[in-house]
Amino acid sequence: MSKYKIHPLLEKRWSPRAFSDKPVTEEDVNKIFTGASWAASARNEQPWKYVYGLKGTPGFDRLWECLLPGNQPWTKNAAVLFVALQRHTFESNGKTNKKAMHDVGLANAQLLLQAVSVDIYGHLMAGYDAGKAKETLRLNEDMSPVCMGALGYLGDANDLEEPFKSREREPRTRKPLEEFVTKL
Ligand SMILES: Cc1cc2nc3c(=O)[nH]c(=O)nc-3n(C[C@H](O)[C@H](O)[C@H](O)COP(=O)(O)O)c2cc1C
Repeated sequence: MSKYKIHPLLEKRWSPRAFSDKPVTEEDVNKIFTGASWAASARNEQPWKYVYGLKGTPGFDRLWECLLPGNQPWTKNAAVLFVALQRHTFESNGKTNKKAMHDVGLANAQLLLQAVSVDIYGHLMAGYDAGKAKETLRLNEDMSPVCMGALGYLGDANDLEEPFKSREREPRTRKPLEEFVTKL
């Protein structure tokens, strides 16, 4: 644990692989994406878009098929799968938005915190086939995926297959402040 006490929501958030079969309501999904939408962004451009699917629907299956084998086994139990997309150019003037990926990351952070505030946990993933995602979502040149994510209520780690079961129990660690903060 950290030397300094932080906000309970930040302390509570983590990236599980074991999800329960409790569905996430459409209302909660909309609240979670609203949480993302209130993130800061360069020129308030909000260069993010989210595409999601609920478990048990063809949309979920189409997104799941974009995941790499390392993420497919445990995500099949998630209640929601989503892709976070970035828009590369400013809507206002067509110039390149160099901070687009940063801003999508910030929105994702808010999304995860909004979710965990109601006991819904999120797990972001870079392990997906970006080409397949682009094809599946028919993205134009100006849009590309930043990451995928799984959402759901916590499940039982014992239900996971290896190596996910062991990974679920590994202690979470963070670098000490001295390694990444400098006071001038
Ligand atoms: C952009 C991004 C990509 C990630 N890709 C994967 C992934 O493909 N598979 C996976 O199991 N976890 C993935 N993770 C989760 C990280 O491994 C996890 O956030 C990190 O180990 C810290 O753990 P915590 O979120 O529980 O604090 C990813 C996280 C981020 C932010």
